[in-house]
Amino acid sequence: MYVYATCKGGCTMVDLRGRDFLKLLDFTPMEIRHLLDVAKTLKKQKRNGESHRYLKGKQIAMIFEKDSTRTRCAFEAGAHDLGMEATYLGPTGSQMGKKETIEDTARVLASMYDGIEYRGFDQEIVESLAKYSKVPVWNGLTNEFHPTQMLADIMTIQEEFGNLKGRKLVFCGDARNNVGNSLMVVCAKLGMHFVCCAPKNLWPEENLTDECRKIAEGTSAKIEMTEDIMEGTKNADAIYTDVWVSMGEPMELWEERIKLLSPYQVNAKVMKNAKKEAIFLHCLPSFHNNETTIGKQIEEKFGIKEMEVTDEVFESNQSRVFEEAENRLHTIKAVMLETLKK
Ligand code: CP
Ligand code: NVA
Repeated sequence: MYVYATCKGGCTMVDLRGRDFLKLLDFTPMEIRHLLDVAKTLKKQKRNGESHRYLKGKQIAMIFEKDSTRTRCAFEAGAHDLGMEATYLGPTGSQMGKKETIEDTARVLASMYDGIEYRGFDQEIVESLAKYSKVPVWNGLTNEFHPTQMLADIMTIQEEFGNLKGRKLVFCGDARNNVGNSLMVVCAKLGMHFVCCAPKNLWPEENLTDECRKIAEGTSAKIEMTEDIMEGTKNADAIYTDVWVSMGEPMELWEERIKLLSPYQVNAKVMKNAKKEAIFLHCLPSFHNNETTIGKQIEEKFGIKEMEVTDEVFESNQSRVFEEAENRLHTIKAVMLETLKK
């Protein structure tokens, strides 16, 4: 039998069955908290070796038009933990986009599977997939949003500090991307203090910022933008960064981004400026050394060994990046369970 998570905010009222999970703007604070509570229960069950095959017999399709380690494995391993089977459709090998429209793909997959995950480019694609699919569609990252990542990030902050209200989360770097946007949204929804530390042209889009500020009025959240990293990171509870050039962006952007974002690198001086107990977060993958193919190319071309975060901070005892990565599994399972259960 499905065991309901202990729920503080009266969220036994929450019913997400049949819902898509496309962006956090579509969810109420109570629904987001509920998913976090379910993830906590599932994490305990996994740790204790308790079977939790609540979705036995169901099947999911996973569309990946971009690479992935964490998201793919969390959906796949998570599906198996919940008793389901999963089919992976990579950037090549299916008809989607080349010979078949998103609308047709959605209708075909929905006739064979109980849920569809999509990672790819424009948010419009995943929205359209959901529109034409009669089964839940989950966003595994688009250019604009990365909603499953946020659940894992917030779960990690909650595990660290016990509460979220008023916690100061500072994002340093390219904030005009899926991760920066989604962090601003989740902080607004959960009454947190979001600070974007970046050059002005890499702040989240004005429309989205305005929408988040409106949400913040109702949740007592605070949304701030600054170009001054020392002012922004002062007294932070969590400092977060992401790669300077995201998947799908051209390699030529590296030069400009290195120039623009080097002053926003998360290093020991920045961490010292935060609270003593502050943690470091990163969605990963991360360029904290030169031990990857792209890391080596960047070093050869621009002479730098570390980018958005120093190896020292990444490996420090303030870093929670691997706890955060593990939480991708538990939170993605919560999303699948809550939207697919009977
Ligand atoms: N954080 C994240 O989405 O990682 P992957 O690209 O490995 O899925
Ligand atoms: N902004 C990054 C996130 C990776 C998880 C990208 O889109 O490549």
